Amino acid sequence: MKDNTNINAEIRRIIGESSPLAYVRSFGCQLNVSDGEKIKGVLSSLGYGFTDSEQDADLIILNTCAVRESAEDRVFGIVGSMKKLKERKPGLMIGIAGCMTAQSRIAEKIKTSYPQVDFVVGTSAINALPELLLGALQGRGFSADITEYDDFSEAAVQVRESSFKASVPIMFGCNNFCTYCIVPYVRGRERSRRPEDIISEVRGLAADGYKEIMLLGQNVNSYGKDLGGDMSFPQLLRELNAIDGDFVIRFMSSHPKDASPELIDAIFDCEKVAKHLHLPVQSGSSEVLRRMNRNYTAEKYLGIVDEIRRRDPGFSLTTDIIVGFPNETDEEFAETLALIRRVGYDNIYSFIYSKRSGTKAAEIEDTTPEDVKSRRMRELLEVQREVSAEGYKRFLGKTLRVLADGESRKHPGYITGKSDEFIIVEFEGDASLIGRFVRVQVTETMNWAVKGKVILEDNL
Ligand code: 5AD
Ligand code: SF4
Repeated sequence: MKDNTNINAEIRRIIGESSPLAYVRSFGCQLNVSDGEKIKGVLSSLGYGFTDSEQDADLIILNTCAVRESAEDRVFGIVGSMKKLKERKPGLMIGIAGCMTAQSRIAEKIKTSYPQVDFVVGTSAINALPELLLGALQGRGFSADITEYDDFSEAAVQVRESSFKASVPIMFGCNNFCTYCIVPYVRGRERSRRPEDIISEVRGLAADGYKEIMLLGQNVNSYGKDLGGDMSFPQLLRELNAIDGDFVIRFMSSHPKDASPELIDAIFDCEKVAKHLHLPVQSGSSEVLRRMNRNYTAEKYLGIVDEIRRRDPGFSLTTDIIVGFPNETDEEFAETLALIRRVGYDNIYSFIYSKRSGTKAAEIEDTTPEDVKSRRMRELLEVQREVSAEGYKRFLGKTLRVLADGESRKHPGYITGKSDEFIIVEFEGDASLIGRFVRVQVTETMNWAVKGKVILEDNL
């Protein structure tokens, strides 16, 4: 592992007693948010404090996402606007991290068109951050490190945003090469963390009173394959389930091609594992799935759903869907709508296809007009609202265990949280409940959440 002892000491000497503030903003998925917490961990060990305001910051790090073009455009907009900020505050340092940095055309664009940026740090190079920062502090000009170090994952302690919900990355990268997806190019091949490191981290979190542990990976179902196969994901779930404490275990994301009977058994056997599965289907058309290189058919996917529902008819499922994959026909899109109705998802994360250069799908000539894609998106959202509203009725009168998360923005006086089934639950209560499990009896359903009343507060 990179030895940063001298570099860290030099940074601390330069910073002295000045207690500088860093603003770290993460875009995109939860894995990236977790990387942002690691970046904060590195900065905290160097003596930085944190601020939520760009204006107050001495150091700004934008931890970027490359999954869709819109996310990249947003970052370029923000970096552009920071030119003025830097003119007003010459000592301000700006760094770019995250998935965008791994594309050479983007790294080049940052270097040539955005002189306000001091350094670029790649997703696997967080351990190189002190060196880059030192260069910037010493006024040595632009520097970048986007090397794929393979020993970085245990290097940094996360500075966690929440005191009761923790994300724990269990693996990095992806081997699947779905034709639309940039992730394998920007995050590299699958690398699993050692089970003992994960287990001891979760043990520590449970001892610290964390109530939700979210295991993260691009495809958690292939966890451990690169470690020689001694510990599979279902086995890991069982190990974590055996840890003492009052917490719920969630995980994201599962690839349907690797969703095994062992996984389903583990979900049902482990009382701490949430009775909810996020199973991204992407499309309901087997032909589109073939063009996406997803390695399963709609029938195989429905087979998994049926097996889960055979064991628990009310089991909660959520999914990701891409609308308007190149040359998706009306019939193929109709198959997606039919699948949504058939499965009855509680929630769907839907995205209009975004062309990512370097991927296989970017080479396809796409004849589907943009307005057709937008219309399909609207239709999908409509069907989804209908399907979830209908599905949520199964909770009426039932009591759900809910982790109270924060005050509701929509309903003053209400607290919002997520049930074990990953349903948004709103209930009357005060802020003292936040971070605790409560039992809520559902009295009303909406199309995006359910409402209820608290009947028991756990661990009082
Ligand atoms: N365009 C649109 N959506 C995408 N996703 C991944 N790549 C793209 C893309 N190029 C979506 C998939 C994935 C989720 C995290 O983002 O649905 O499951
Ligand atoms: Fe992208 Fe497919 Fe890997 Fe998910 S499984 S990160 S969609 S390549």
